[in-house]
Amino acid sequence: MASQKGDFEAVRRDIASLLDAPDWDDGSYGPIVVRLAWHASGTYHVETGKGGSSGAGMRYEAEGGDPANAGLQHARVLLEPIKEKHPWITYSDLWTLAGVVAVKEMGGPEIQWIPGRTDFDSEEFCPPRGLLPDGAQASDHLRDIFYRMGFNDQEIVALSGAHSLGRCHADRSGWDGPWVVNPTRFSNQYYKMLTKFKWTKKEWTGPFQYRNDDLGEELMMLPTDLALIEDDAFRPWVHAYAEDKDKFFADFAKAFAKLIELGVDRTKPYESAPAKSKELGAPEHGTGLGRAKL
Ligand code: HEM
Repeated sequence: MASQKGDFEAVRRDIASLLDAPDWDDGSYGPIVVRLAWHASGTYHVETGKGGSSGAGMRYEAEGGDPANAGLQHARVLLEPIKEKHPWITYSDLWTLAGVVAVKEMGGPEIQWIPGRTDFDSEEFCPPRGLLPDGAQASDHLRDIFYRMGFNDQEIVALSGAHSLGRCHADRSGWDGPWVVNPTRFSNQYYKMLTKFKWTKKEWTGPFQYRNDDLGEELMMLPTDLALIEDDAFRPWVHAYAEDKDKFFADFAKAFAKLIELGVDRTKPYESAPAKSKELGAPEHGTGLGRAKL
């Protein structure tokens, strides 16, 4: 049944009900939905005010087809029935709300979410590609990217704790595997893995990544993940969050709420774009290419 305009609680309930998926990765769509909310927002530029979580530009090939967004069409297609059922919600509100609901459903903190994002009605408004971080790089790259969005060192480390969720997919980013043993449970495991274990180069034909199997299964880290424990200013925060789960939950909630507010302009009328279900899986709507294929 369709909901009344503005009944975000009904939308929340419907998002929560479709996250469990025994046949998908580790049993939940939660991680990929969190990644959709992050990539929808992480194009922001604090000086120009461009980019950010409004627009839902990934509906267009210009942004959806950015190799950094490879795989996220699965999350967008997943949410399409919710958009059809609640046609009054904007895509950009739906995607960010879905991230917040997914974190909560996976045992994470309550994150403040305020509606009001509007959707682009043309591809020409999409941000340029290449604004999201590249996992092959080091700490100076992380600072370039996240300072551009207006985050500081502590917030960079807190946001990175989302890698307690989900995994890398060889056919999307080129990298492969999960960061933690229980990747559908929001936790501070990621920081514990970084502080307690020794990470060595994985010998394989894929891109450079780190590996460790002390816990009985092979886990992974990207070069940018290791940068957090190698960098003198990032490291104290990694230790703080490894030792204090509550502090991590509180700081993550604050930083993620800030992330999904980037670039939001509530002076525009709240008009939703029509649902695109039929077209969304089509390549012109951004299936993207995996890094390995570039
Ligand atoms: C710090 C810089 C970051 C880099 C370089 C990075 C890179 C990556 C890469 C390469 C993947 C694997 C994609 C795939 O192959 O499917 C991934 C997955 C993921 N990232 Fe990040 N990420 C960063 C920050 C973040 C942030 C800030 C968040 C959220 C707050 C986040 C949330 C996730 C989640 C939840 C997944 C798992 C997706 C899935 O299971 O499908 N990442 N990230």
